[in-house]
Amino acid sequence: YNPKQPHRTAYHFQPSKNWMNDPNGPMYYKGIYHLFYQYNPYAAVWGNITWGHAVSHNLIDWIDLEHAIEPTEPYDINGCWSGSATILPGGNPVILYTGADFKNRQVQNLAEPKNPSDPYLKEWIKAKNNPLMTPINGIDPQFFRDPTTAWQGPDKRWRVVVGSQIDGHGTALLYRSKDFVTWTKSEKPLHFSNKTKMWECPDFYPVIVSRRNGLDTSVHSKNSKHVLKASFNDQDYYIIGTYNPETDKFIPDVDFMESYLKLRYDYGIFYASKTFYDSAKRRRILWGWVTEGDDKLDDIKKGWSGLQSIPRSIVLDKNGKQLTQWPIKEIERLRRKEVNLQNKGIKGGTAFEITGITASQADVEVSFHLPNLHDAELIHPEKVDPKILCSEKNASTKGVIGPFGLMVLASKNLTERTAVFFRVFKSHDDKYAVLMCSHQTRSSLRKVVNKSSFGAFVDVDPKENISLRSLIDHSIVESFGGGGKTCITSRVYPELAVGQEAHLYVFNYGTKSVTISNLHGWSMGRAKIFPAHGKKMFP
Ligand code: FRU
Repeated sequence: YNPKQPHRTAYHFQPSKNWMNDPNGPMYYKGIYHLFYQYNPYAAVWGNITWGHAVSHNLIDWIDLEHAIEPTEPYDINGCWSGSATILPGGNPVILYTGADFKNRQVQNLAEPKNPSDPYLKEWIKAKNNPLMTPINGIDPQFFRDPTTAWQGPDKRWRVVVGSQIDGHGTALLYRSKDFVTWTKSEKPLHFSNKTKMWECPDFYPVIVSRRNGLDTSVHSKNSKHVLKASFNDQDYYIIGTYNPETDKFIPDVDFMESYLKLRYDYGIFYASKTFYDSAKRRRILWGWVTEGDDKLDDIKKGWSGLQSIPRSIVLDKNGKQLTQWPIKEIERLRRKEVNLQNKGIKGGTAFEITGITASQADVEVSFHLPNLHDAELIHPEKVDPKILCSEKNASTKGVIGPFGLMVLASKNLTERTAVFFRVFKSHDDKYAVLMCSHQTRSSLRKVVNKSSFGAFVDVDPKENISLRSLIDHSIVESFGGGGKTCITSRVYPELAVGQEAHLYVFNYGTKSVTISNLHGWSMGRAKIFPAHGKKMFP
């Protein structure tokens, strides 16, 4: 912990300085994980966008290598923007990325490793034929970016999707190619939505029904469904549907913005995310960009801006209607000192402190049992906005069943605190609605930082236990409700609750008691992140 940098994280990926945004081209290659990222080498604000490049054996400790792709050519001189990696059948990786060209048009380019036998893939060569896709035939040159990982159809041709806006509607343009170099735009996009605008960073991948493992991007089976994710309105929304690789038709079960649930990866701060298939552990992993919630001037002062989320493994939920996310297992290696609690009742209107771990750098898993669901307040979940509900009925507003949960990054007297909590309501026809909130109004004494609350419903039955896991790391809290059915990431900038002055509480401000069935909390160690010119390299 560095008192001059109280908000720098200990186990989230961030470069040693300057601006970072989207995760790009994540992949697993020859025993090494690669993460590229949108990076400004010169300042803590967006600009001069270059591909930063970090490598890891375990997705936790990183070596931040030299830049992989820099703006040097007429077709990317104004920025090397987001893109994805594809592992070709022979095993060699390639990257498709967006260039902002000399006229500030968006075009798609290809880069290949100079030396595929180097597992670190340090050097990348841009293809001679670049740009491979240009904004012709009515595509707006300002709305044409962020190619996905490509997948191969039964006809052996490659498909890739590029984010766009056509006639004001968010669109996933579809391109096909036999050789990865010559790409033809399909008449029909893969999908579009007249309820949204420009789609940034689309992602399209298969998930498998009733199994925990992930699928490689080109896999298609009887038991698979497809996920389409698009980034818009500062959020990552997804839909699940059926994809036919022969016709390239994608039919969503429920389309974007159509159900009141409006499914998102995360209901807090999490944007421009990307998944990849980890062939070593047969799982699909999600990375997302977590922006700052402080002021641009603060970023310049602290010299950095932007985090990557903890990588999450992502699967189709048992109910087939949504995804479930969980921090990758590897993060558990950083667990140090542990505290445990079992079967402890918490009376309405009380809070107690969990001591013995480093509350500013922790991993906490808690599961609540609700002995008494009578008298739950009534709501109609389809008629309320959960985010608004969370700021109206915030952590200080008494309820019947809840608010109960954690107060994290709290100062000793609770002047500062971030509350992550649940409230249980009765909905019509004797069902229940479980609301999960992250309430930040009291997170910092500072005025200029963004302290808006976040909230979403969690599709769990409150007659069973309700679980919450929070990864706390100085200025970021990533929370997973109901075993990862609902995720909320927030950024907070406490002034008092920093380093050893940060505390952790469990609270219940409902009138009914709740019971902690189980609580496990761990101090977390520090991830090793070495800069490119650092002395230590891999053993
Ligand atoms: C998303 C995004 C992408 C673009 C990149 C530029 O955050 O705007 O659409 O490629 O960032 O840095």
